[in-house]
Parts: sequence; C-alpha cells; structure tokens
Amino acid sequence: MDGPIIAVDGPAASGKGTIAKRIAAEFHLPMLDTGLLYRAVAQHMVDHGLSLDDETAAERAARTFTIEWLVDERLRTRVAGEQASRVAKYQGLRVALRQFQQDFAHQPGGAVLDGRDIGTIIAPDAHAKLWIDADVKARANRRFRELIGRGEVVREADILADLMARDARDAPNMQIAPDAIRIDTTHLDVDQAVAEALAAVRRRVQT
Ligand code: C5P
Repeated sequence: MDGPIIAVDGPAASGKGTIAKRIAAEFHLPMLDTGLLYRAVAQHMVDHGLSLDDETAAERAARTFTIEWLVDERLRTRVAGEQASRVAKYQGLRVALRQFQQDFAHQPGGAVLDGRDIGTIIAPDAHAKLWIDADVKARANRRFRELIGRGEVVREADILADLMARDARDAPNMQIAPDAIRIDTTHLDVDQAVAEALAAVRRRVQT
C-alpha cells in the first residue's frame, strides 16, 4: 500500500484533534484538521460582510478556498467554531471543500485527517478509522479549560450549551463508519486516549 490514510472523526471537543496529532507524529504522516476549512470559509464570509445564512454565498466562498486561508489565529476561537457549524450544513459548500480534503488524504505516503465525515465521505477507503466520542459534559469541561488557557473569557455553562447546539446542527453530517473503531474518552486522560487510539491504528495498519 501507499502510506496509510487514517480517519479520526467525532464530535466537537471529543479529543480527536489531540489524538490525530499524536497519531500523525507517531506514524510520521502529514495531518489535516478539516474543521479549519469550515472555520476559514465562515471567517472569509464574515470578513467580506456576507451573511452566514446565505447558502449561495457560502458555496461560492468555499469554491474559492485556498490553503492560505488556514493561516489565521482567529480560526481557533469559540466564535469561529460556531460560525463554521452554521455554514457546514450547506451541501454545496461541503462538496466544494471535498476535493481539497480528498487530495490531501490520497497524497503519496499517507495522511491523517480529523473531522466528522472523513471515514464515510472523504476517504471511505481509509486504512484505519477511529470514532472518538465523550460525554457532552466532559467535552464542555475540556473545551472550557482549553479556551481559558488561551486567554478567552468564557463560562462553562455557555460552552455546554454551545456544544449541545453544535451536536444537533452537525448531526446530519456526522456519520460513524460501520468499520470505525469507537473510543469513548470520557474517563480517559489524554495519554490513555492516545494509547488506545495508537493501539487501534496499529491493529489496522501494518508498519
Ligand atoms: O472540528 P471543529 O470544531 O473545528 O469543526 C468546526 C465545525 O465545522 C463543526 O462543528 C462542523 O459543523 C464543521 N465540520 C464539518 N465537517 C468536518 C469538520 C468540521 O462539518 N469534517
């Protein structure tokens, strides 16, 4: 096989980003955080005075997406995540962002991608698929600590409400691949979650 394609999917703040980074480091693979693409398109729309409710404008913006858009610290904020989930429901936008992700996944040498639909839509042929989940309260607490650590002023109750709304909005585009290995990180610390994920990937990918 060419290098392996590893799909790491799951809801917001489940720990999938951290896990994907550690898998990429362990297997010496490039990694793409696909949430950033949706965040970048929404940010582009805001910067150009476009309404996030404008589906046609969202699709048009996604068609002009380039990798340079990802170099923007604002994309990591809570607001950017909310904006992203408002536009991610538009199928035209999702299709416009698909080729970029598929090219990244299928580059020679392999790749790790984290997102919501990597194992189902972007790379159903991935060699290893993980579905990372955790109880919504545990996810809210993690996201709260992460944002506070970055200097954002937020309340944990607001984060919980955001995540519940986000889960509901994202649900139609979050499908668990039938061949995904599911890892619940609610009661795991980062190292335990990473260890489980690495063991799961090794079972699917011969190195
Ligand atoms: O993962 P992250 O929180 O950065 O994603 C932001 C939003 O982008 C998600 O809430 C979801 O609406 C959307 N998204 C998506 N498909 C992906 C990655 C992100 O719909 N593969």
